[in-house]
Amino acid sequence: MKIRKAVIAAAGWGTRFLPITKSMPKEMLPLLNKPLIQYSVEEAAACGIELIVMVTALGKREIEDYFDRRVELENMLTEKGEHKLAREVRCLCDLADICYIRQKEQLGLGHAVLSAKSIIGDEPFALFLPDDLFEYGEVVLRRMLDICDRHNGSVIAVKPVTEAEVSRYGIIDSRKLEDRLYQINDLVEKPPPSEAPSNLAIMGRYVLTPAIFRELEQVPPGKNGEIQLTDGLRRLAQREPVYGYEFMGERYDAGTIPGWLETTAALALRNPELGPRFRNYLNNLLQRTKEPTISP
Ligand code: G1P
Repeated sequence: MKIRKAVIAAAGWGTRFLPITKSMPKEMLPLLNKPLIQYSVEEAAACGIELIVMVTALGKREIEDYFDRRVELENMLTEKGEHKLAREVRCLCDLADICYIRQKEQLGLGHAVLSAKSIIGDEPFALFLPDDLFEYGEVVLRRMLDICDRHNGSVIAVKPVTEAEVSRYGIIDSRKLEDRLYQINDLVEKPPPSEAPSNLAIMGRYVLTPAIFRELEQVPPGKNGEIQLTDGLRRLAQREPVYGYEFMGERYDAGTIPGWLETTAALALRNPELGPRFRNYLNNLLQRTKEPTISP
């Protein structure tokens, strides 16, 4: 079955980036010349997603404006002969149909996903946590869509993490089926290292069957008093198959200041126009700078 819809969870307050997120959605933070959220939208579009359900909240209007048309700007760029830029600006609103639904209260990721239920309906869908960027995002999601189709079940992107990191992620308990593919028995949200069932952590891409909505409706508040998606998946895994796909390549966390810096640096180094100059700059900087002397 072709998966046509995706949910992008974009309702978080971005407290880790305050004060800038006081009046600017975290999802609009730049990663080079694109806002963070554009990477997820492009990835979804490249994988054939036709409708994106963006779950937003109060104070996120800039996201809607960004993916809308701005005809005067396109005209101005065209008149100035900036045809490439004009096309780029125009293309943003053709990537996919995007509809916006607001999560009225910050009750957790599971609750945010549940807000999209009436638009998703009774079909499987992809879910993006836009803070997470993947080196080979399109390849990873395509593979996950394929696993969902072949094995008839939900699929979660997973990656091994160190013991010190397990308490930052949802962790799976699973049985290996084949290279990079696991059948999930259980999941636990952000366990202390002593209680983690493995070192395989959930990263921000999911392909879910609509049965997840029924489970999320039943889930009581969990970690941090929030309705956790991981708790919904835990119930789902008792009723139908849920798979973990151990993807190849890097995953970047642009949702924290250090992670955002690392993501920016990685993207800049990989960029053919910026890369050589930035690499040179970093090498020189590292030679000159030993210890940080000023705090940010
Ligand atoms: C969320 C999920 C967690 C997952 C993580 C991946 O947590 O709840 O299971 O491992 O995303 O980035 P958050 O980072 O929103 O606290």
